[in-house]
This record gives sequence, C-alpha cells and structure tokens, in this order.
Amino acid sequence: MGVTQETFSHDIHAQKGLTCVSCHGGDASSDDLAKAMSPAAGWKGAISRRQIPQLCGSCHSNPAYMRKFNPSLRTDQLAEYHTSVHGKRLAAGDTDVAVCTDCHGVHDLRAPNDPQSKVYPVNIANACARCHADANYMRKYSVPIDQFAKYNTSVHHEALVVQGDLSAPTCTTCHGNHGAAPPGVDSVPNVCSNCHVFQAQMYDKTAHKAVFDAASLPGCVVCHENHAIVHPTDAKLSNQPGATCMQCHTAGDVGDQARAEMLTGLTQLDGAIKEADQKLAVAEAAGMEVSDARLAQNDAKDSLTKARVAIHSFKPEVVRLYVQAGLKIADKDLQAGQNAMIERNHRRIGLGVSLFAITLVLAGLWMYIKKIEH
Ligand code: HEC
Ligand code: HEC
Ligand code: HEC
Ligand code: HEC
Ligand code: HEC
Ligand code: HEC
Ligand code: HEC
Ligand code: HEC
Repeated sequence: MGVTQETFSHDIHAQKGLTCVSCHGGDASSDDLAKAMSPAAGWKGAISRRQIPQLCGSCHSNPAYMRKFNPSLRTDQLAEYHTSVHGKRLAAGDTDVAVCTDCHGVHDLRAPNDPQSKVYPVNIANACARCHADANYMRKYSVPIDQFAKYNTSVHHEALVVQGDLSAPTCTTCHGNHGAAPPGVDSVPNVCSNCHVFQAQMYDKTAHKAVFDAASLPGCVVCHENHAIVHPTDAKLSNQPGATCMQCHTAGDVGDQARAEMLTGLTQLDGAIKEADQKLAVAEAAGMEVSDARLAQNDAKDSLTKARVAIHSFKPEVVRLYVQAGLKIADKDLQAGQNAMIERNHRRIGLGVSLFAITLVLAGLWMYIKKIEH
C-alpha cells in the first residue's frame, strides 16, 4: 500500500514521536490482528477523504495538545479550511476538492520549511496543478484550468522558481493556504498591496479605485492580470491596440491626455539616461575618470523607477516631478561625459606636442652624437 518505515521515518509526525496508531488507531502492542485492529481498540483503518480534515484537525485544532510540541504553531487550519471553496464543497459532499493530504501529502509529510515538502514555496504550484491544470479531473466544474500555465509565464514564477526569491508569491500566497483569502486582506485581488506597497498607496487615493470598487473590478488585476503578470514596459501607456489605458479611455479624453503626457516624460528620461550612459562608457573606454558621474547615474535611474511607480497616481504632474529630477541628473552626467571627452582631446593634443618635442630632442641628440663620433 506504499507505506514503508523508510518513508514514514521522514514524516514530521514520526520525527515528533507519533506512530501509525496516532492517526489510524488500534492497539500496536497486540500480536492478535483481530484485537489490534478492532474498533474497541479505536481502530479506524482506512480513512476516507471526507474524514481527513477532521482527523488532522483532531490534533491541529487542539491548542492544549499542540502547545506541548510547538507553542508557536497556529491551530486555525481546520477552521480556516472550512471557509475556503475546498472546505465548503467538501462539507457539501464533493470529495474531489483538495483536502489536507492533497497539499501536504501523507506518511512522508514534512514541515513547510523543508525543501522536500509539497508545500515548500517552490513546490506548491505543482501541488495545485495536479488538479487545477488537469482538464479531465476538472471537467465537472466551470472554473478555467489555465492558472498554472499562465502563472508559469509570470514575473512572480520567474522570481520565485527561477531566481529563488522566496518573497515572490505562489498560488497560496495570493489565495491563502487554508482560508478563502490570505490573512490581512478581505479578498484575493487586494493581496497585491501586501508586497507592492508604494503602488497600492498611490492607487488607493485615485478616482480609479473608487470607480473600480463600485463596479466590482479587481483593482490592480484590471491592468496587470492575476496569473500571467508580466514585466510592464512603457508601451503599456501607448495608444496602440492592447495597451492599458485605451481599453477604457477614448482619444482626447482626460485619461488619454494623462497617458500621453506620462509616456512622453518617461520616454524622455529613459532616453536621456541611455545617452548619458553611452557617453560615459565611451569616456571610460578612453581611460577617463568618470566614476562620480557613473554613480550619479544610479540616482537618475532611481528617479525613473519612482516615475514609473508614480503612474499609479494617474496624475501627470506627479510623474513629471520625478522625470524632471531625473533629467537634471542625467543631463549633468551627460555633460560630465562630454567634458571628459573634451579633456581627453586636450590631453591628446598635449601628448602629440610633447611627443613631437621629445622626437626633436632625440633626433638632435642623435645628430650631435654622430657629429662627435665623426
Ligand atoms: C498523520 C496521520 C497519519 C499517520 C501518522 C499515518 N497515517 Fe496512514 N493514512 C493517513 C491518512 C489521512 C490516510 C488516507 C490517505 C488518503 O486517502 O489520501 C492514510 C492511509 C493509509 C493507508 C492506505 C489505506 C487505504 O485503504 O488506502 C495505509 C495502509 C496506511 N495509511 C498505513 C499507515 C502506517 C503503516 C502508518 C505508520 C507507519 C501510518 N499509516 C501512519 C494518516 C496517517
Ligand atoms: C495525533 C495528532 C496529530 C494528527 C492526527 C495530525 N498531526 Fe500534524 N502534527 C502533529 C504534531 C504533534 C506535529 C509536530 C508539531 C511541531 O513540533 O512542529 C505535527 C506537525 C505537522 C505539520 C508541520 C508543522 C510545522 O510547521 O512544524 C504539518 C504540516 C502537519 N502536522 C499536518 C498534518 C496533517 C495534514 C494531518 C492529517 C493528515 C495531521 N497533521 C495529523 C500532530 C498531529
Ligand atoms: C490547498 C492546500 C492546503 C490544504 C488543503 C491544507 N493546507 Fe496546510 N498548508 C498549506 C501551505 C501552502 C502551508 C504552508 C504555509 C507557509 O509556508 O506559511 C500549510 C501549512 C500548514 C501547517 C503549518 C502551520 C501553518 O499554519 O502555517 C499546518 C499545521 C497545516 N498546514 C495543517 C493543515 C491541515 C490540518 C489541513 C486540513 C484541515 C491543511 N493544512 C490543509 C496548504 C494547504
Ligand atoms: C485534489 C484536487 C485539488 C487540489 C490539489 C487543489 N484544488 Fe483547488 N479546487 C479543486 C476543486 C475540485 C475545486 C472546485 C471548483 C469550483 O470551484 O467549481 C477547487 C476550487 C478552488 C478555488 C476556487 C475557484 C472558484 O473560483 O470557484 C481556488 C481559488 C482553488 N481551488 C485554489 C487552489 C490552490 C491555490 C491549490 C493549491 C495550493 C488548490 N486549489 C489545490 C480541486 C483541487
Ligand atoms: C499574484 C496573485 C495570484 C497568484 C500567484 C495566483 N493567483 Fe489565482 N487568482 C488571483 C486573483 C486575483 C484571482 C481572481 C480573483 C478572484 O476571483 O478571487 C484568481 C483566480 C483564481 C481561480 C479562479 C478561476 C480563475 O481562473 O479566475 C483559481 C482556480 C486560481 N486563481 C488558482 C490559482 C492557482 C492554482 C495558482 C498557482 C498556479 C494561482 N491561482 C496563483 C491571484 C493569484
Ligand atoms: C508576496 C509578495 C507579492 C505579492 C502578493 C504580489 N507580488 Fe508582484 N512581485 C513580487 C516580487 C518579489 C516581484 C519580483 C521582483 C520585482 O521585480 O519587484 C514582483 C513583481 C511584480 C511585477 C513586475 C515588476 C517589474 O518591475 O517588472 C508586477 C507588475 C507585479 N509584481 C504585480 C503584482 C500584482 C498585480 C499582484 C496582485 C495580483 C502582485 N504583484 C502580488 C511580490 C509580490
Ligand atoms: C489603470 C491601470 C493600472 C492599475 C489599476 C495599476 N497599474 Fe500598475 N502599472 C500600470 C502601468 C501602465 C504600468 C507601466 C509602467 C511603465 O513601465 O511605464 C504599471 C507598472 C507597475 C509595476 C512595475 C513598475 C513599477 O515599478 O511601478 C508594478 C509593480 C505595478 N504596476 C503594480 C501595481 C499594483 C500593486 C497595483 C494595484 C495597487 C497596480 N499596479 C495598479 C497600470 C496600472
Ligand atoms: C477599466 C477601465 C479603465 C482603465 C483601464 C483606465 N481607466 Fe482611467 N478612468 C476610468 C474611469 C471609469 C474613470 C472615472 C471617470 C470619472 O471620474 O467620471 C477614469 C478616470 C481617469 C482619470 C481622471 C482621474 C481624476 O482624478 O479625475 C485619469 C487621469 C485617468 N483615468 C487616467 C488613466 C490612465 C493613465 C490609464 C492607463 C494607465 C487609465 N486611466 C486606465 C477607467 C479606466
């Protein structure tokens, strides 16, 4: 049946001194099978999917019991689970939804911070995909099955799985692991603000927030998607088909004007930074000392980042503030690069003149020596 002492030895429950009997009941000290596996000895035998949350909760919802092992462990998993779509549907008799063991495994069940755990951040999406990306398994339901495929194309997947940045979200970061929504937010689309604080602070004060909320539009997700979130570029602000703003605004209205002005500012600063970078690279290659200007370029890039965050105020004047600050620095750096090249030219001329003088002296010396020898 696939349960071995070897697999169970890795299970957190085995490691904490629990045994098969802790979950399955029975009398492990009896050699008599009939007695060992008798209901009188608390024998439960096979545990049906429907019973699993209750079984796990019998310990995990008992603070007095859990405190003896690990006082810092939460004891609300079962209560939270009851609020989720999974929990509600299970209560209604649908055993195809996820129960505790679908996410955590069983008999080889590891603590969430163990990299081999099914709920270790990088592994979670695979656990969800086993059902949610399986067209056959999900055919009874009307929910889409593309979340895993889309998530795999996202910046979040790239950050978490490819770059190993454990602060990036996976499925359960946004959906909650046990409850219907993660702690601290009233609904899943609001979860972005837990991490993208600056954008959220700005967005929260805008007319968009008010009208989107009133129309039950999911905030950030309206412009960024939920699963296939990609790295946004300035092109999002263009008026080309598919760009963000023109999905709702029309040519010439207040949104279109704001978009155009913000795009112009960002393009200008981006261009100025690249130009200064190029000039400084040329100066550096020519052996000139431009490290101060190089360092200052970071401040210009910082202003560009802030200007892009400031889009979320949807006020061109706020974006302009950062653009102008950045332009000032980039212009100065460009000037520094140009000055360095002028200086290099001066030095080249000086070098040429002195080389010429040295050659003259050498030639004179040579002729003088020849003359003495003669
Ligand atoms: C933390 C609780 C827990 C512990 C400890 C545990 N089990 Fe299980 N076991 C379960 C659950 C829950 C299931 C049902 C799994 C499912 O359907 O996904 C199960 C299923 C089984 C099954 C399969 C039953 C069937 O009909 O498919 C066997 C056999 C089994 N366990 C034996 C063991 C043995 C032997 C040990 C000790 C080495 C053990 N279990 C320890 C919870 C536990
Ligand atoms: C007989 C009581 C009992 C049952 C039943 C039980 N557990 Fe546990 N579980 C424990 C104890 C004790 C620990 C160890 C806590 C610690 O020291 O961190 C634990 C640890 C865990 C952990 C690791 C927590 C951590 O971060 O350290 C997970 C996850 C877990 N159990 C899930 C389950 C699931 C899922 C089930 C049902 C299949 C289940 N447990 C059934 C008692 C139980
Ligand atoms: C939909 C998937 C899913 C289901 C279903 C699920 N869990 Fe979890 N569980 C997780 C994830 C993901 C984590 C890791 C959370 C983290 O890393 O902070 C976790 C963590 C835990 C922990 C460690 C402490 C904590 O709360 O972070 C325990 C204990 C636990 N789960 C028990 C249970 C029990 C008991 C059930 C069933 C009532 C259950 N889980 C159902 C995904 C799930
Ligand atoms: C054992 C299969 C299974 C696993 C594993 C599973 N789910 Fe589900 N899930 C379901 C089923 C079945 C539904 C019910 C579909 C519906 O709501 O109509 C569901 C519903 C949901 C819903 C509600 C969808 C809606 O809007 O109605 C969310 C969100 C969800 N699951 C997220 C997750 C996440 C996140 C994970 C991984 C941590 C996960 N699920 C793991 C089977 C599973
Ligand atoms: C960055 C946050 C985020 C991540 C990561 C994420 N989701 Fe979602 N998900 C959302 C939002 C927002 C919605 C739509 C809001 C709602 O209806 O609750 C949603 C909707 C869903 C739904 C309902 C059906 C649908 O597609 O609209 C399911 C099922 C689901 N997600 C599963 C998953 C799974 C599985 C993963 C991991 C592969 C995942 N999600 C990763 C934020 C996220
Ligand atoms: C758990 C924290 C967390 C949550 C929740 C979260 N993100 Fe992210 N997000 C990150 C991290 C980490 C990155 C990658 C590092 C970076 O580029 O900032 C990222 C990257 C992004 C990027 C690309 C940024 C860039 O410069 O390329 C966008 C856009 C984004 N997230 C939007 C969202 C939206 C919309 C939501 C909500 C549906 C959301 N995020 C939820 C942490 C989070
Ligand atoms: C009305 C559309 C819209 C809404 C709503 C929106 N954004 Fe954006 N967001 C954009 C556009 C356009 C960009 C592209 C900036 C660029 O690169 O020029 C962007 C860029 C970003 C970036 C990456 C660039 C950066 O550093 O700012 C992140 C992260 C981000 N948004 C997060 C969020 C979050 C979180 C929310 C919700 C609080 C949100 N956005 C709401 C349109 C929107
Ligand atoms: C989902 C539709 C939608 C998208 C996408 C959208 N807007 Fe809007 N926008 C609106 C609505 C609705 C209003 C409110 C009009 C009103 O107040 O009567 C609005 C208002 C505005 C206003 C006026 C705000 C104020 O303070 O009065 C500006 C500026 C604006 N949008 C800019 C943008 C920009 C820039 C983008 C792209 C990054 C964008 N919008 C994307 C729907 C949208």
